[in-house]
Amino acid sequence: MDRSPKILVFDSGLGGLTVFRALLRQRPDAEFLYAADDLGFPYGPKSEAEVVSLVMSAMEKLIAENAPDCVVIACNTASTLLLPHLRARWPQTPFVGTVPAIKPAAELSQSRMISILATPGTAARDYTLDLIEKFAGHCDVALVGSKNLAGLAEGFVHGEAISEEQVAAEIAPCFVEKNGRRTDSIVLACTHYPLLLEIFDRIAPWPLRWIDPAPAIARRMDHVLSARFPAGRTNGRSFSFHFTSGATPTPKLLTTLELLRRDDRKSTEVDRAAM
Ligand code: DGL
Repeated sequence: MDRSPKILVFDSGLGGLTVFRALLRQRPDAEFLYAADDLGFPYGPKSEAEVVSLVMSAMEKLIAENAPDCVVIACNTASTLLLPHLRARWPQTPFVGTVPAIKPAAELSQSRMISILATPGTAARDYTLDLIEKFAGHCDVALVGSKNLAGLAEGFVHGEAISEEQVAAEIAPCFVEKNGRRTDSIVLACTHYPLLLEIFDRIAPWPLRWIDPAPAIARRMDHVLSARFPAGRTNGRSFSFHFTSGATPTPKLLTTLELLRRDDRKSTEVDRAAM
């Protein structure tokens, strides 16, 4: 096809930027729209019915107005619930989801003790429990649904001060010691969490592996697009941003986005977690 692919990246807030950054690297030729459902944020504590309704109504508008060639749901809380709904409603549009990276964590863990750090919604999903059963049967798994971490990360990107004590309290249940073994891999099962990775690393009681699925999602998106849009042409990337509230991005957010767009590796530390 003789044009750039149009990719819609969707999250409840700004956590999806950790995925978006990997997507930009993978397909620098694409035209991106990042959409944040700030009206619905946070999804994590909401009922499944509420999350379904928020995502479906945001998507009706976004797909009708933008006709994307691919939609990346850069949100575990939505993906673990809604991918079948979205694919049934828009059978012609490919959807790429973000789901907890339990398989690589279980494969890589040497202590066979892994933790999954997620929103309360993702931690309670059958989808997540099925992944644990399927891929982590040989591991001790701590499934941690954090009430406040996504909100702390969202505020952090908007320039708010963050309390390390509060972050430490949220992630404390991920660090488990038992019979001389201890957790050696933590799945970042909410796209907001890699935004706080530098803090996590600093306050962790022992060094371990943080697993961020963003690069794998980017490869999946590329695979989905590649038949219609072979990679390799760089037309100059284009990028726009949309809040469901109609808000405009703050200057701080625009700077972050510009750094991402220029692929400035200093802008986040996400790569250190990439598997
Ligand atoms: N970033 C989202 C996720 O990956 C959820 C944050 C929220 O809305 O609670 O799960």
